[in-house]
Amino acid sequence: MEARAPKKLFIKSFGCQMNVYDATRMADVLAPEGYEETAQPEQADLIVLNTCHIRERASEKVFSELGKLRELKEDRKARGQTTRIAVAGCVAQAEGAEILRKQRAVDLVVGPQNYHRLPDLVRESFMAPVVDTEFPVEDKFDYLTPPSEEKIRERGVSAFLTVQEGCDKFCTFCVVPYTRGAEVSRPAAKIVAEAEALARAGVREITLLGQNVDAYHGMGEDGATWSLARLLRRLARIEGVLRLRFTTSHPNDMTDDLIEAFADLPALMPFLHLPVQSGSDAILRAMNRGHGARDYTSLIEKIRRARPDLALSSDFIVGFPGETEADFQATLDLIAEVRFASNFSFKYSPRPGTPGAELADQVDEAVKTERLHRLQALVESQRQHFNASLVGRITPVLFEKPGRHEGQVAGKSPYLQPVQIDGSVDLIGREVLVEIMRCGSNSLFGRLVETPERAI
Ligand code: SAH
Ligand code: SF4
Ligand code: F3S
Repeated sequence: MEARAPKKLFIKSFGCQMNVYDATRMADVLAPEGYEETAQPEQADLIVLNTCHIRERASEKVFSELGKLRELKEDRKARGQTTRIAVAGCVAQAEGAEILRKQRAVDLVVGPQNYHRLPDLVRESFMAPVVDTEFPVEDKFDYLTPPSEEKIRERGVSAFLTVQEGCDKFCTFCVVPYTRGAEVSRPAAKIVAEAEALARAGVREITLLGQNVDAYHGMGEDGATWSLARLLRRLARIEGVLRLRFTTSHPNDMTDDLIEAFADLPALMPFLHLPVQSGSDAILRAMNRGHGARDYTSLIEKIRRARPDLALSSDFIVGFPGETEADFQATLDLIAEVRFASNFSFKYSPRPGTPGAELADQVDEAVKTERLHRLQALVESQRQHFNASLVGRITPVLFEKPGRHEGQVAGKSPYLQPVQIDGSVDLIGREVLVEIMRCGSNSLFGRLVETPERAI
C-alpha cells in the first residue's frame, strides 16, 4: 500500500459530552486517511468545528469562530497551504446548507448521524462544498474505525461510550429531538466489545452516554431487549472496569431495576445527574416534561433509600415562558428539599422550531438574569457544603493524571470531585483510598491511606 503523507486535523467541540465522544470517533475515522490530530489550528489541513445548538449563545459562537477560521484559511493559502473547514454537530444538523451561505469559507457541513462518511465528504469537498445532514438508514457506528490501543491510552483512564442517541420526548424548550433524531439504542454486544477494548487499553472508568440514557433498550447478547440496568451489570463484569457512570437521564425512565443497580452494583458510582428543570408543576407541564415536582422528589427519596451515599446533580432552566415569581420560588423550594452536590443552570433561550419559542408570555431578560443569580447562589452554597462534608472522610479516588505541582497526582472521587494528593504518578489508572484533609473551592486535597487498592 502506498504510504500517505501525514495531514493534520484540528477538532474543536462545543456542547455536551456526546460531542466530546463524537470528536474522538471523527479523529478515529480520519486516522486511516493519514490525519493526525494537532492542538494548533494554524497547522491543520482539516479543521472541524463540532457544534452545539442548545442555546442561542452556543450557536452564535460557531459563526464568530468561523470568522476567525476564514482569516486563518486565507493566511494559510497565502503560504501555499490548503485548508478544509468542516462544520459538524448539532448546528450543522439544524442549519445545513444555510451555513455555507452565512460563511463561504466553510467547505463541508456534516450532521451528528453522518460523520462516519467524513473521509468521502472531505474528498468530495475539494470539488465543491458538500452538505450531508440526511438521517441515514445505516448505523454510523457500524462504519466507524475503532481507535488504536495507543490512542485510547493517550485519551486517559476515563472514557465516554455512547449507548443511546436521540430523543423522542420533545420537551418544548429543546432542539435535541430535531438535531439528534429519534431515540436509538445500540446493540449490547457492540457496546460490550467497545468497553472491552477500552479496558484492555487501560481505561478504568466508563461513562455511558445518551440523550436519554436511562431509556436504553438495546438488543442484548441473548437476543432479548436489555435495559440500562442489565447493560450495566454486564459491563461491570469486564476485567479492569472499576467505575461505571451514565448520563443524561430522564426522571420518567428511572426504572426500578435501575434503582436496584444502584443498590447492589459497587462499580456503579453513587452520583446521578437527573435533570428536573423546574420545581413548578405548571411550568413542568408547559415544558412537556411528563412529570410533576412531587414525582421527582419521591423518586429521589426512593433512589436514596436504595443507595444512601448517593449524591445528585440537575439541570435547571429559569425564565421559561409564563414562569411567575411563585413558580420560580417552587424551584428554589425543590432545590432546598433535595440538596444537590452540583448543578447546571441556564436562562431560557427561545430556539427556532421549538414550541416554547412560539409562546406569548416570554419572560423579561432582566428577570431571567436576576432569577439565575438567586438560583446559582443557592446551589453553589449546597455544592460547597457537599464538598466540605467530605473532609475527614476516607474515599476511593481513581487517579487520572499528574497533579498541579511536582510530586502530586490528581484523580476523581466517586462524586467527580477533583482530588489532589502528594504521591507518585504510578498511581495513575489505580483506585486507592484517600483521606480528605481539606477542600478548596473546586478541588479536594487528601493523603493516601495505607490500604490495598481494589484488585484489578
Ligand atoms: N437530554 C438531557 C439534556 C439535554 S440539553 C435531558 O433530558 O435532561 C442539556 C440541558 O440544557 C437541559 O437539561 C436544559 O436544562 C438545558 N436546555 C435545553 N434547551 C434549553 C433552552 N432552550 N434554553 C435554556 N436551556 C436549555
Ligand atoms: Fe431535550 Fe427533553 Fe429530550 Fe432531554 S428529554 S434531550 S431536554 S427533549
Ligand atoms: Fe448541544 Fe447537540 Fe449536545 S445541541 S447539548 S451538542 S446534543
